[in-house]
Amino acid sequence: MRFSFLMIACVVLAACCATLALAAERVPLSALDLSQMKQGWGRPQIDKSITGKPLRIAGQTFATGVGSHADSVLRVRLDGQATRFTAWVGVDDGADGHGSIVVLVYGDGKHLFHSGVMKCGEPAKRVDVDLSGTNVALLACTSAGDGINWDHVDWAEAEFHMLGDTRPRAVGPPREERVILTPKPRPEPKINGPKVYGARPGRPFIYRIPCTGQRPLAFAAEQLPESLELDRETGIITGTVPQKRGEYAITLRARNPHGQAARPFKLIIGDTLALTPPMGWNSWYIHYDHVTEAHMRAAADTMIASGMADYGYQYVNIDDCWMKKRGDEPYRAADGTLLTNDKFPDIGGMVDHIHSKGLRAGTYISPGPWTCAGYVGSYQHEQADARQFAQWGFDFLKYDWCTYEQVATGAGLERLQRPYRQMSAILKTLKRDIVLNLCQYGLGEVWTWGGTVGGHCWRTTDDLGNQPGALLPGFYDIGLSNARHWQYAKPGQWNDPDYILIGWVSNSSSLGEGQPTTLTPNEQYSYMSMWCLMAAPLVFSGDMAKLDEFTLNVLCNAEVIDVDQDPLGQQARIVTQTDELLILAKPLEDGTLAVGLFNLGEAERPITVKWDDLGLSGKWVARDPWRQVDLGTFEGQFEASVARHGVALVRLRPAG
Ligand code: GLA
Repeated sequence: MRFSFLMIACVVLAACCATLALAAERVPLSALDLSQMKQGWGRPQIDKSITGKPLRIAGQTFATGVGSHADSVLRVRLDGQATRFTAWVGVDDGADGHGSIVVLVYGDGKHLFHSGVMKCGEPAKRVDVDLSGTNVALLACTSAGDGINWDHVDWAEAEFHMLGDTRPRAVGPPREERVILTPKPRPEPKINGPKVYGARPGRPFIYRIPCTGQRPLAFAAEQLPESLELDRETGIITGTVPQKRGEYAITLRARNPHGQAARPFKLIIGDTLALTPPMGWNSWYIHYDHVTEAHMRAAADTMIASGMADYGYQYVNIDDCWMKKRGDEPYRAADGTLLTNDKFPDIGGMVDHIHSKGLRAGTYISPGPWTCAGYVGSYQHEQADARQFAQWGFDFLKYDWCTYEQVATGAGLERLQRPYRQMSAILKTLKRDIVLNLCQYGLGEVWTWGGTVGGHCWRTTDDLGNQPGALLPGFYDIGLSNARHWQYAKPGQWNDPDYILIGWVSNSSSLGEGQPTTLTPNEQYSYMSMWCLMAAPLVFSGDMAKLDEFTLNVLCNAEVIDVDQDPLGQQARIVTQTDELLILAKPLEDGTLAVGLFNLGEAERPITVKWDDLGLSGKWVARDPWRQVDLGTFEGQFEASVARHGVALVRLRPAG
């Protein structure tokens, strides 16, 4: 009797302990350091929706959980001490009928839960995943590919079930080593840059032969038209473009004690400029409205000193904010000439300085009364302003829609096209070649008509710098969107997915010094590879004063840049695209094919591309342009193991 009483007492005690222990083993998501949660809008809310209301999914209220916003990602270190993760997920009712999301849970890079597309009003879905042995779990929410507006996600009653008393820990993204892939330039000369170049008859010409190798170098140019002159020491060609239209098959040469190099350079005199995508630097993403003339002059100096110009970078482009600001009258001189602000005391001298280096200068304005940052625009002064740009010597104009919205007339496409048609017609009359960059964020599917209104390149999307990109960085969203318009790109007419934001960059809210990019090394290689496959303008917009070895290794790989600058001028087509991977293929002039295998997922994985999908047969040699080595001969398919958010870029040539 006593014995059995003791037994019962023990059993009850043990049950109580077990219950207590069980309770202690469940750690709510809200107990983690949510400052590690990256999300597209607002801050994560504990036991509340993102807008601070009770968590409610399709009318069901939850007392606990975390309210977040797409795109969002949280990494949680579990060190093999978790058993399960459970939650109810869905779009919070606060989204008021809008919003669509995909909720994802990964364990060590493997998919454990995929909600499918969920919309507001749909009942919560149960997440119950096995985490046994998992080191790092990842909780993510994407916008389901339609932008993040109204994407309020609830992780209701979300809990980690832990073994013992180990706590799950929210951590930042995995660290990657900054491995330099680009081989150092060799001491003997190597001429880089475009093999075709467009110019209009009778216009001033300036071109600095991009060439690596130990300086001093001795340059030569065979078949150079008489009206052009080469400086044999600097490799800068200047003069006037011959009046006679047609093709001039020039051979560029360079020599030093270590060896010599030659490269064909076909000058095509006609009406088409930018026969290959423009390459250069733009001030926007580092200097914004703090940009000064000194920054621009120094950028030109650095383009030479850093070696960027030896790989084909050529345009030094000022963005917004060089004119007078709204309210800071007078805006124009008595004769209507546009005035610069105090930070640009001698803009003509600045352009001369850029030209003295053999580089080209670019400027920016809006067809509207004001630029996007509230500086004076060209509205009703288009002729005079364009003439002024040519007189200062500018070679490139970014024409940014901005406040033109307020004054636009007409309807439909005509309304969108008018300011660009007008400016391009004016530029054609000028005694200067000015490349016209349409900036209107893709309105009216600009890729279908940008060339017909005289644009040489056109932005296809919103600003890259404004992309939230918590799960995949913003360049991926912009790149994926730009990639879809591949049929429209051709020599002289390029899709422009915006600048290359690596190195030190800034955002308008944290001006000043800027900060190093948050992109991982693999992401940076993907960015540059994708832009080159898409034949995009290669315009760096980080800090020229803080270029480091890694950034230069990404920007300045001659074989990678050759993919971008290929004379055939085709943009890569999309071979395969899923949530997890992207394969792009770009045919090149010499019959080779550049292929990019992009891993959009969270863990390293093998990616295979089949010859059938590339339209190939037989044996092909794969060359890795980043490392500049042949990888071997392949038949039927090519496969590579690709890092998280990374790329395998190869150039395939027929074997034998
Ligand atoms: C717009 C453009 C940017 C930049 C700014 C300048 O946002 O898209 O590239 O030129 O204007 O204000």
